[in-house]
Amino acid sequence: MAESNRQIVLEQLPQGAKLGAEHFRMAEAGIPRPGEGEVLVRTRYISLDAANRAWMQGATYRAALSSGQVMAGGALAEVVESNDGRLKPGDLVFADTGWQDYAVLPAKRLAKLPALEPVTHLMSVYGIAGLTAYFGLLECGKPKAGETVVVSAAAGSVGSIVGQIAKIKGCRVIGVAGGAEKGRWLVEELGFDAALDYKAGGLRQQMKEAVPEGIDVYFDNTGGEIFETCLFAMKNFGRIACCGAVSQYDGAPPPHGPRGIPGLIVTKRLTLKGFVVMDFAEQNDKALADLQGWVASGQLKVQEDILEGLESLPRR
Ligand SMILES: NC(=O)c1ccc[n+]([C@@H]2O[C@H](COP(=O)([O-])OP(=O)(O)OC[C@H]3O[C@@H](n4cnc5c(N)ncnc54)[C@H](OP(=O)(O)O)[C@@H]3O)[C@@H](O)[C@H]2O)c1
Repeated sequence: MAESNRQIVLEQLPQGAKLGAEHFRMAEAGIPRPGEGEVLVRTRYISLDAANRAWMQGATYRAALSSGQVMAGGALAEVVESNDGRLKPGDLVFADTGWQDYAVLPAKRLAKLPALEPVTHLMSVYGIAGLTAYFGLLECGKPKAGETVVVSAAAGSVGSIVGQIAKIKGCRVIGVAGGAEKGRWLVEELGFDAALDYKAGGLRQQMKEAVPEGIDVYFDNTGGEIFETCLFAMKNFGRIACCGAVSQYDGAPPPHGPRGIPGLIVTKRLTLKGFVVMDFAEQNDKALADLQGWVASGQLKVQEDILEGLESLPRR
């Protein structure tokens, strides 16, 4: 066990500015001791998510972050010491550790993860990203074979899985992503039917050409202009799964909301459903069985970006 606990502290909230390394600093603390019913865990992989940035804007489904706290985040962590019979040293858990080497947490908030290789899949396709894609698409979007599904932030961790699940379910799938290279990856590697480049401009025209018949299901990861474009392109009785608004996390809020609300929701008889992945926790076993089956059969490809070492995280 290391001598000290390295921590990345959120030194200063970005307050409407773009987030940068200057908002973080590295600190060192002692290794905490677990009390009764608690466990000491060592982080092995910290999950760097778009939501980390959203938490800096105020309270969401979790409390707002504040200056001076250890940066919050979930991690795949290994139990080092346990004062609870349900967990023993060596067990792997997914834990709200924050960006640090060690954390002490109540055992009742932790569940032992299965032994599986590569372990990083427990954080990607079998973790928040995979489950968010699965439940958001299937429970909120409710796609049927033959329908057209559009997903934004399509080359991101959630979007890339959404599109592949929609293909598995027999849909026509269009991804919206930034840049030609991401678009090529979506179509050539992941089997999307088409990709639109929102950074190239003219997204409305691109959308018209790609989905002249309209969209049945839009999986919204971005909000903003992409949301608005899709809203205008929805078919009557279409469904929109509202997953996140990544276009609005980093920087000042946009001057106005998307046009077409509420008028188009009425005239097109749309259903918009917001969700948080934890809402479906009771169905996790079924979701994980499906995801594991698709990965094993090669129908679902997994792409992970792994940075080595706590030092590689942004800080000054
Ligand atoms: N509801 C839930 O329970 C839940 C759970 C997990 C995640 N989420 C949400 O799901 C969304 C995707 O998360 P993720 O983990 O997949 O993120 P990710 O892997 O970090 O990918 C995010 C992508 O968003 C795109 N993006 C960034 N700024 C953008 C902008 N201004 N306009 C359009 N696209 C932009 C970027 O791709 P480009 O290069 O293509 O621009 C970026 O790579 C987020 O909104 C997140 O908050 C929700």
